[in-house]
Amino acid sequence: MVSRIRIALDGPAGSGKSTVAKGVAHKLNYIYIDTGAMYRAVTLKALENNIPVDDAEMLTRMMEDTEIVLRYERHGNESVMHVFLDGRDVSEAIRGLEVTANVSPVAAVAGVRQALVSMQRKMAEQGGVVMDGRDIGTVVLPQAELKVFLTASVAERGRRRWLELREKQMEVDLAEIIAQIEKRDDYDSHREVDPLRQADDAILVDTTEMSKEEVIDYIVKLALERGARIEPSSVDA
Ligand code: CDP
Repeated sequence: MVSRIRIALDGPAGSGKSTVAKGVAHKLNYIYIDTGAMYRAVTLKALENNIPVDDAEMLTRMMEDTEIVLRYERHGNESVMHVFLDGRDVSEAIRGLEVTANVSPVAAVAGVRQALVSMQRKMAEQGGVVMDGRDIGTVVLPQAELKVFLTASVAERGRRRWLELREKQMEVDLAEIIAQIEKRDDYDSHREVDPLRQADDAILVDTTEMSKEEVIDYIVKLALERGARIEPSSVDA
């Protein structure tokens, strides 16, 4: 059995994927790969270059000279991910409301997905990864040793996203956030290419009534059952 397993974490917006993926990766000393950040970086580039977010041809061409790199920095005990778009750190810029409002049409373009999926597969080649997104268990890593589909009620997902934005001093209306989440889920689930879908062999976890620690511990337990071993940390080594 492999000990550096691949963990695929999918689910709708605000289901807690990134928090949970980070927590699981931290406990196992695995790498966390946020594929949503990659779609967000492509969206930022399109917006900055005035490329219409539904122009599949131009977006596909844009991918030919687009470089996205995820780098990890140690901050004490934590590993913090930075997203580089063509050599520039865009980690903050990709979280803005304009990117969020435009990412779904960009992510629906086949040429964009092809380019990013192939980068993501390379990033997971060595195993020891927790990858989160919409199509990880179904398309990117169909052979992943553990697949989890995280969900929660839309009201709870909206509340979590609202709290997250408020922590960043962004004043937003809760009803608006819920409406935006519903719109994005609808778009992501109904697009033609690689829609958001639970893989047949994924474990469904409804996190509405669970704390993030409970979800993290549960997934770590599942990972250990599937053969994962806690890797020695590079800092301790
Ligand atoms: O964290 P949040 O739920 O806001 O979304 P995200 O993971 O940052 O992803 C942003 C958007 O990228 C999603 O709404 C999808 O449209 C797209 N996405 C995708 O199509 N496939 C993935 N593997 C990851 C994200």
